Amino acid sequence: MTRRVKIKQEDNGEQDMFWKRKQQKTTMGDRGERVDDRLQHIAFIMDGNGRWARKRGMPREFGHSHGAATFKKIGRYCEKIGLKYMTVYAFSTENWKRPQKEVDTIMKIFDDYIEECFLEMEEDNVHFRFIGNLSVFPETLRAKMDKIDRETAHKPFILNIAVNYGGREEITNACNELIREGKQTVTEADISAHLYTLDCPPPDLIVRSGGEYRTSNFLLWQSAYSEYYFTDILWPDFSAKDVDNAIAAFYGRKRRYGGV
Ligand code: FPP
Repeated sequence: MTRRVKIKQEDNGEQDMFWKRKQQKTTMGDRGERVDDRLQHIAFIMDGNGRWARKRGMPREFGHSHGAATFKKIGRYCEKIGLKYMTVYAFSTENWKRPQKEVDTIMKIFDDYIEECFLEMEEDNVHFRFIGNLSVFPETLRAKMDKIDRETAHKPFILNIAVNYGGREEITNACNELIREGKQTVTEADISAHLYTLDCPPPDLIVRSGGEYRTSNFLLWQSAYSEYYFTDILWPDFSAKDVDNAIAAFYGRKRRYGGV
């Protein structure tokens, strides 16, 4: 009997202990313990880069560089523990209000990151996808995003990178597409099918670092029944151990989807 079948036969209280037992068996941090089918998709609001840099007397851009390194490390860990989908909030529709120097640095980080993805994609199991209103980006960057998406489309771990993303913009865009298609009335399924995340299941768990307790326009439609986990850790300090802690909290919750 496989471990997964055995878990399904346990009662709910026992199920909640599933991840805790796994944690007790090994030391904390980067253990690579695999998740089960209840947890397929984690989304991250990577907050706290600016404060992390300021605490070190450095410009905010320094925090974003370290935040990007943390993002790569956490991405590798999420893939390793058997998640199927990961979504990160890298740049919102509101983030253009930041000083131009900071915006330029974040854009340069994306561009460098995509170049790196091309170099490493052979060994990676990652399908890179960019979600958001991409029309604002220069044609060269859009072409690279599109190319890396197409060339990794056969890979099993889907990584959605939300750039110029806003939940309200996404829903509005879906409605406008439906109007263009000539719909008079729409269903929830119609809207879901026109979101940027169209072929991903909604996130089971949304993790926000940086000590703020809000959704900040992230995955508004998709998060209807997501579990949230908030931590004060600033994103550049976020580690595999913090992923484990978020997962432990998730397994301790009972998802009822409005039922009892
Ligand atoms: C929020 O922290 C962070 C951002 C708006 C940018 C996030 C970008 C990265 C982590 C780089 C990602 C890179 C790739 C390649 C996807 P903040 O600046 O709002 O921090 P603060 O709340 O401390 O000011």
